[in-house]
Amino acid sequence: MNEHVKPYHKDGEGKKEEVEQMFDNIAHRYDFLNHLLSAGIDRLWRKKAIKHIGRYSPKCVMDMATGTGDFAFDAANMLELDKIVALDLSEEMLAIGRKKMKKNRHNIIEFVKGDSENLNYESNSFDAMTAGFGVRNFENLEKGLREMYRVLKPGAPLVILEVSQPNNKFLKAIFSVYFKGILPLVGRLFSKDHRAYTYLPESVEAFPKGEDFVKILKKMGYSNAKHQALTLGICAMYICEK
Ligand SMILES: C[S@@+](CC[C@H](N)C(=O)[O-])C[C@H]1O[C@@H](n2cnc3c(N)ncnc32)[C@H](O)[C@@H]1O
Repeated sequence: MNEHVKPYHKDGEGKKEEVEQMFDNIAHRYDFLNHLLSAGIDRLWRKKAIKHIGRYSPKCVMDMATGTGDFAFDAANMLELDKIVALDLSEEMLAIGRKKMKKNRHNIIEFVKGDSENLNYESNSFDAMTAGFGVRNFENLEKGLREMYRVLKPGAPLVILEVSQPNNKFLKAIFSVYFKGILPLVGRLFSKDHRAYTYLPESVEAFPKGEDFVKILKKMGYSNAKHQALTLGICAMYICEK
């Protein structure tokens, strides 16, 4: 189901190509819209996730689907790390990340173009992995999660953040008005991409949530998989270990 929800519904084009094209298109506005549309709460979610991996004292971390690198920058600020591989499909998103790196003078972050479903790294290479709002966009979710598992060291933590929906019916209705009505309008206005911020609620709706996603993590071999609802359930944090 997840792989059929694509940004542009072009014939003969896979989800991966369309996702890459969409993030290339909106890269110049991504950070601005991200913080505007989440009222800055996304920063708190990433910090919470980084505190979690900090308990494992990692040295070498991969930030999967890094986009413009916000997770990687926070990890570099909050933890004592030797290296962060910040990997993404979209060259334009990475280019913004590299520009931010020059300003922040973080020389431990390496921005790398790559695909979660075919990682160019040896098995058992990373002490921890973060993935913020990325896995929902994978063309083949299970293949991506399996590759992420492969490159993690045994016992290493993975923390995934994904947009979710509140469980409470009343809050869900309010959230729905915002998410399906206001957010696509504001997104279209600023990003100039007619589909990106309509694809966002569509892809969130189609993506497995809570225990359903935990089951997939377990099926892919991860242990101690759990989920936690953040900010009334708007965001879900999934934690697990190889
Ligand atoms: C919503 S952005 C999230 C960026 C960032 N992690 C954050 O927290 O703001 C999703 C990112 O996932 C990337 N992505 C989607 N599919 C991918 C794949 N198969 N491999 C690597 N990156 C992917 C996109 O290019 C995009 O930059």
